[in-house]
Amino acid sequence: MFLLNDTLLRYRERVERALAARLPAATASPARLHEAMRYAVLGGGKRVRAALVYAAGTALGAGDADLDAPACAIELIHAYSLVHDDLPCMDNDDLRRGKPSCHKAYDEATALLVGDALQTLAFEVMASDPALTVSPARRLEMVVTLTRATGAAGMAGGQAIDLAAVGRKLAPAELQDMHARKTGALIHAAVRLGALAAGTTDEKTLAALDRYGHAVGLAFQIADDILDVEGQAATLGKRPGADQARNKPTYPALLGLDEAKTRAQAALEQALESLAPLGDNGAVLAALARYIVERRQ
Ligand code: IPE
Ligand code: IPE
Ligand code: MG
Ligand code: MG
Ligand code: MG
Repeated sequence: MFLLNDTLLRYRERVERALAARLPAATASPARLHEAMRYAVLGGGKRVRAALVYAAGTALGAGDADLDAPACAIELIHAYSLVHDDLPCMDNDDLRRGKPSCHKAYDEATALLVGDALQTLAFEVMASDPALTVSPARRLEMVVTLTRATGAAGMAGGQAIDLAAVGRKLAPAELQDMHARKTGALIHAAVRLGALAAGTTDEKTLAALDRYGHAVGLAFQIADDILDVEGQAATLGKRPGADQARNKPTYPALLGLDEAKTRAQAALEQALESLAPLGDNGAVLAALARYIVERRQ
């Protein structure tokens, strides 16, 4: 864990700097939109997805500079998803990353536009950022990977299932599918983008990382659901209890807290087993998987 703390901090600082450099200046017009974009992205967040990009890429021999663009792109999409997730028409949450949610600090129309602009900035970075030196064909594959994880087949589709399921009892397989899309897809994409940035073509390695990405993606949202029951606002930076108050389809609500914990552990075991082909190079990814399940924030 000691090793992971140092590594996480280093990745966090690196992606914060890279994001700050890629976001539009708060002084440039339209200043209110730019300021709100920077508010939503900078100064908070665990940066788990960026860490997965750096850890997967590094495990396969990529340099940090090649990983900055995918790490930023994935964190920009994630920040956009949180801004929209907190809107009154979705989860209606007023606290995010220990601060007022974007629509509370600004207004709903601005929050909507922040999401739009962060999403397009993410794709601009993925498509054209000069720090990434892979071939044009590989870059296109990375753009498509991010697109699929973000859209109707991934995060946006998962959010739609989440909203449609409020107050309904989902079957365990439907619940798993919802989690795999709304959160798992972007986490899986983070791992895959790291591997693609490293130029890996070895199918066995890519398949192992795919299995790892799917397992940690599911584990991440089960842990998020558990923290909504057991967590504290001071450490979480968001209000616990919101899922139950809104009758949200979650693992604890549908299967109980104990079974939710059992499933998170099972997903963790699967993630760890998947890393076997990477040998010692998978150590940081293994520590990240443990962190994702055992975190308190
Ligand atoms: C919260 O994600 C939203 C989910 C997809 C569960 P994180 O817990 O990664 O949020 P930050 O980035 O650390 O704020
Ligand atoms: C959020 O799930 C998933 C996305 C933002 C795509 P939640 O609604 O559970 O996330 P939190 O708990 O508000 O962070
Ligand atoms: Mg939600
Ligand atoms: Mg929410
Ligand atoms: Mg949640």
